[in-house]
Formats: sequence, structure tokens, C-alpha cells
Amino acid sequence: MSIAHGIRTLGVLGSGQMGLGIALVSALRAKVPVLLHDRSADQLTKGLTFMDRLLEKDVAKGRISADDAKDARARVSVVGPEVGLKGLRDVDMVVEAVSESLSLKRSIFASLAAELRPGAILATNTSSISITKIAASAIPEGTGAASDAGKASAGRVVGLHFFNPVPVMKLVELISALQTTPDTLDRARAFAVACGKEVTTSKDVPGFVSNALLMPFINEACLCLNPLGTATRDDIDTTLKLGMNHPMGPLQLGAIGLDTCLAIQQTLYEGTRDSKYRPSVLLERMVDAQWYGKKNGKGFYEYKE
Ligand code: 3HC
Repeated sequence: MSIAHGIRTLGVLGSGQMGLGIALVSALRAKVPVLLHDRSADQLTKGLTFMDRLLEKDVAKGRISADDAKDARARVSVVGPEVGLKGLRDVDMVVEAVSESLSLKRSIFASLAAELRPGAILATNTSSISITKIAASAIPEGTGAASDAGKASAGRVVGLHFFNPVPVMKLVELISALQTTPDTLDRARAFAVACGKEVTTSKDVPGFVSNALLMPFINEACLCLNPLGTATRDDIDTTLKLGMNHPMGPLQLGAIGLDTCLAIQQTLYEGTRDSKYRPSVLLERMVDAQWYGKKNGKGFYEYKE
């Protein structure tokens, strides 16, 4: 028997590449009203413009009707920085997709736990940070982790990890914190399925399954480039594309965001204390130079708007 997700309104936090994609598939595929919030008004405008382009393209390619696109777009409303998180007060679930910083996520989840209804699901799209740590920050002030209120609030936190580009990639990785309740897990899974995604589950280990395997791959490609000098950028990427049928080479995959790749690799290194995960110095220097990849136009490649 399939379980109903029961989400009548969704909040999405962060309108970057991931948040925008999550808002789009939720409105278009799961057909739920979405409140999209970002602390930057510019980022919200940029995100919505990109969403309009993606919907127009789907219509032009005959994948959806013009009415479907119009309905999906009408389901997305913006909650501006002046309103803040309290604008998400009435949602049944929120998916947080802000940058990979534990301190930022901790403060967001503490605020979400205070602002949202007790039954609302608090999902994070984190790529690697412990869901258990994030869930602990949802314990209301003045209550303990073992109190009924503490357990209930942390129990609604779950990892719902989408992949980039969200409208195209078919997977969602579902991660349970130690505290996550079975009901939260079931409803989050049902919601991902309603978004048209296949779901795999992973334990709450650094990087989960996906990034525990992918990031060392990208990190090794950086090491191949420098200091090893094994091959050029293009030869590294072409080897993996043509030799292994990967759609993108590992250095091209840095398009995800080299800052995000480094943050994940650091989480793997610190979370496992295993030297095999030590971030490549080249990757660190690229991020020092603020060469983040597609998101700001320069990484291992140059990207046009
Ligand atoms: N947003 C929305 N749609 C996009 C997009 C984006 N950012 N980038 C590409 N697409 C669409 C294209 O518009 C195109 O749509 P169309 O069929 O309507 O024309 C479709 O994807 C295919 O694109 P292209 O024909 O231009 O090029 P490709 O055939 O190379 O496909 C790709 C593009 C699907 C992105 C493919 O290169 C690919 O699968 N790359 C690997 C992606 C990947 O590994 N993602 C996972 C990253 S890891 C992650 O997200 C985890 C996180 O925690 C870090």
C-alpha cells in the first residue's frame, strides 16, 4: 500500500541550483504549492527566471502542455528576505537547500523548529553533513533530547538528497537521522516518489553513499592534474567520458560547485579522520581564488551565462 505524503504546502529554503530544482519538480510533478524563500532577493529573481526558462523549454519540446507549465508556475510563490522564515509557518514540510555549512544549517533548523507547526517535516538536502547533528538542533530550547517534545521535534528531521540538475536526475537519497521517526521517513519517501524520483536509502555516514563515492573521485582527478601531472584537464575528462561512458568527466562535474565539492570532501575527511579523504591542495586553491565553477562562471572550465 502506498503511503500518502500529506504535504499540502511545501517550503523550499534557498533558491540556488538545488533549491530551484526542488521547487520546480515539487510544483510540476508532485503538484504541491511551494513557498520559495531565500535571504537574497536577487537570487530569488534569478531562480524564478531560470524556472520560467526550464518550463518554456519543456513546453517547446512537447513534454508538458502550456497549461501544465502555467499551473506549475502559479503554484510557486516567493517569500522574500523581508518576511524571513516566519513566512513558512504554515507549510507541512520544508526542504532546506542552503550552502554546506553546519553552523548555518544548525541555526536554520533551530528557527524552523520554533516557527513551524509541530507536525511539519523538516528535510535537509545536505550533501554530506550528519542528519543526526542537524536534527539535534531542532530540539526546542528548554527541553531535553530525551523529553517527549525534544524527541518529537528532532524526529521530524530527515535527509532528502536531490541531485544536480534536479529536474533531470532521477534519484533522491533518503537518510534517516538516529532521531528520525518511521512516519517522517515514510512521508518524505512518498513525497520524493510524487516528485517522480526513485529513492535509495543510506545510513547517516559522512557523504552518505553518493558523495562518499563521488567526491573522492573528483578529488583524485584534481590530484591527477596537480601535483601528479598525470594528464591534462581534457585528457582526464575524456578518459572517463569515452572510456567509461560517464556523461561528464570528473573535472567537468566540478560544475556542481567546487566550493561545495571542497566542503563535502572536508566533511568526509573530518568525519572519518581517514587521510585517504584529505582534500587536494589544488581544489583548496581553486576555492581560495573563488573559482567555484558554473555558479560564478569559472572553475576548471569557463562557463557563459
Ligand atoms: N537544469 C535543468 N536542466 C538541465 C540542466 C540544468 N542545470 N543542465 C542540463 N539540463 C538538461 C538540458 O537542458 C537537456 O534538456 P533537453 O533534453 O530538454 O534538451 C538535458 O538536461 C540534457 O542536456 P544536454 O543535452 O545539454 O547534455 P547532456 O546529454 O550531457 O546531459 C546532463 C546533461 C544530464 C547534466 C549530463 O551531462 C549528466 O548526466 N551529467 C552528470 C550529472 C551528475 O552526475 N549529477 C550528479 C552530481 S552530484 C550531486 O548532485 C550530489 C550533490 O550532493 C553534490
